[in-house]
Amino acid sequence: MNTIKEYKKITTHALYEMKEAGIKISMLTAYDYTMAKIIDRSGIDVILVGDSASNVMAGHETTLPITLDQMIYHASSVVRAVKRALIVVDLPFGTYQGNSKEALNSAIRIMKESGAHAVKMEGGINIKESVERILSAGIPVMGHLGLVPQSIYKFGTYEVRAREEAEANQLYEDAILLEKLGCFAIVLEKIPAELGKKVSSTLKIPVIGIGAGKYVDGQVLVTHDMLGMTTEFSPRFLRRYANLNEIMTKAFQQYISDVKNGDFPSEKEQY
Ligand code: KIV
Repeated sequence: MNTIKEYKKITTHALYEMKEAGIKISMLTAYDYTMAKIIDRSGIDVILVGDSASNVMAGHETTLPITLDQMIYHASSVVRAVKRALIVVDLPFGTYQGNSKEALNSAIRIMKESGAHAVKMEGGINIKESVERILSAGIPVMGHLGLVPQSIYKFGTYEVRAREEAEANQLYEDAILLEKLGCFAIVLEKIPAELGKKVSSTLKIPVIGIGAGKYVDGQVLVTHDMLGMTTEFSPRFLRRYANLNEIMTKAFQQYISDVKNGDFPSEKEQY
């Protein structure tokens, strides 16, 4: 039986310890102060300021349009709320793929201007130089392989990745490379569970899955999806823990009706 160590503050080292002790790592997204505060107080290990903010907060179809300034704005709101969780911020599309100097500048801006603890980057061998350069500045990097939404126009669909042997082998090699370079963890998105198992049993660093099965070292979901606030997105891997869309709609309708009927405010609710 594993004894669960109490962590006052989650660090990258704490995540290694959890993997070694066989304790699963919990991770959720947040993009604003209020949500981040609730998630942190609930005891989450890692908060990801994901570029999924582009979809969830801004209503874009893909993660591509979100800018570095916008990510810094979301990340600093989250940082102000969080006391315990490790805060990881996505480097947005176009800020690290082209050239490693620009990648380092982007990562430095995130760390300096938001106060977050680490960055996440999508890709393997194709972004090797950028990962190396950011790590050499002492900035912790989380990798992201499998379905990498910043490359959606290359894939063409959001279907499961790495079902074919060649792509699975490439992903496996990329994961080993990212560990070798010094990444502290890797996210695997939407891949077969057996491949997730193979990667997590090979690597010493934690492997966190989203649609990567149960054998990896932790799980991440987009908070708005798991709370049932978004309704148009229902992949197999998504477990909904609430139906906030329905609860919120009912509350809004009640408020509208109370205002229209003159039931709100009451005598007690005025000065
Ligand atoms: O941006 C995001 O929310 C992510 C998760 C899906 C892992 O990258």
